[in-house]
Amino acid sequence: MKILTTLLVLFYFSQTVSGQINVQKEFEFAAKQYEGMLASHPDMTQFPQSTKPDGSAENQPSDWWCSGFFGGSLWYIYEFTKDPKWKEAAERWTMAVEKEKDNTKTHDLGFMLYCPFGNGYRLTHNGKYKDILLTGAKSLATRFDPKVGLIKSWEVFQKTYNYPVIIDNMMNLEFLLWAAKASGNKDFYKICITHADNTLKNHFRPDNSSYHVVCYGPNGEVLARKSHQGAADESAWSRGQSWGLYGYTVMYRETRDLKYLAQANKIASFILNNPNLPADKVPYWDYSRPGEVRDASAAAIAASALLELSQYSDSKQKRNYIAVATKMLESLSSQAYHAKSGENNHFILMHSTGHKPGNSEVDVPLVYADYYYLEALLRYQKIKQIPRSY
Ligand code: GLY
Repeated sequence: MKILTTLLVLFYFSQTVSGQINVQKEFEFAAKQYEGMLASHPDMTQFPQSTKPDGSAENQPSDWWCSGFFGGSLWYIYEFTKDPKWKEAAERWTMAVEKEKDNTKTHDLGFMLYCPFGNGYRLTHNGKYKDILLTGAKSLATRFDPKVGLIKSWEVFQKTYNYPVIIDNMMNLEFLLWAAKASGNKDFYKICITHADNTLKNHFRPDNSSYHVVCYGPNGEVLARKSHQGAADESAWSRGQSWGLYGYTVMYRETRDLKYLAQANKIASFILNNPNLPADKVPYWDYSRPGEVRDASAAAIAASALLELSQYSDSKQKRNYIAVATKMLESLSSQAYHAKSGENNHFILMHSTGHKPGNSEVDVPLVYADYYYLEALLRYQKIKQIPRSY
């Protein structure tokens, strides 16, 4: 009887805590690293970003596309620990981004505002955060031209194209879909559907990989398909594939339109079956460049997206998505990618790549790799808390 009980307990835990990922330990480590980060960042106009080539910390101002990730990560640490000191830190670093709510010069408001204020609002229901988010959503919506049918990413690309749209832009839609629900403004919803449909039509290749940049003319005609951060116009930039996967997973969650689910599954299939995806499931910076530097951020974003997508999948696919996401998280939590305590300029993960062709942020920590890693760990824990959920 005792042996049977022991076996049952072991079986239960094998279903709830698998592999090498100890979420509790990971958050304890994150809290320790980010205590160091807070201590080394007294100036709240200097947002943690990465590491410079000389090894010192790289910071960025609030109008940089990554300014919301640090506050967002602090909210995730608060969500896990429930310790009020993390709430206080998250509140401070969230409010430090507030002025970007009026910024109409960037499409990145989803990252900049929804990661800190969206998580803050989800966890606290602070009405001030809601107001800031809704102002920001209006700013973002100014970048949508109905004649083109997409949210404009950059002002100009390669000095020729004045309506470039990047696959990363799919990451703004969660913010606008939230704003549609929170405000009752149906225009936000329509913008998202139109943007997602046109991206689906124009951004993908027959093998389900995506271009990085599609350049449009004034009536929505495609003028060119290019890359900025990938190895070549026709290559599959790794983080771009992860953004697309995440974006269409969210579109399905929020609309229940099966065409978005199908697209997310197709992107997952490209990533998971790619012959150049290494055994540890942390992509090289571009799927056409096996053997070169990795991009841990691409793995963290994909892991988080796959864990959500698994919940919309049948049992075989669900097992596969969870298994691959688990492998990604196991790799990221291993010594190969995980910083040692007090090192790595207080970031959690090493070995991400921001912009390889521009020789910028190559094989470094990146603030958004940490953010999606923490998000994925929270999702992983929720899935594993349901015994025998797969
Ligand atoms: N959105 C910019 C990047 O992924 O590098």
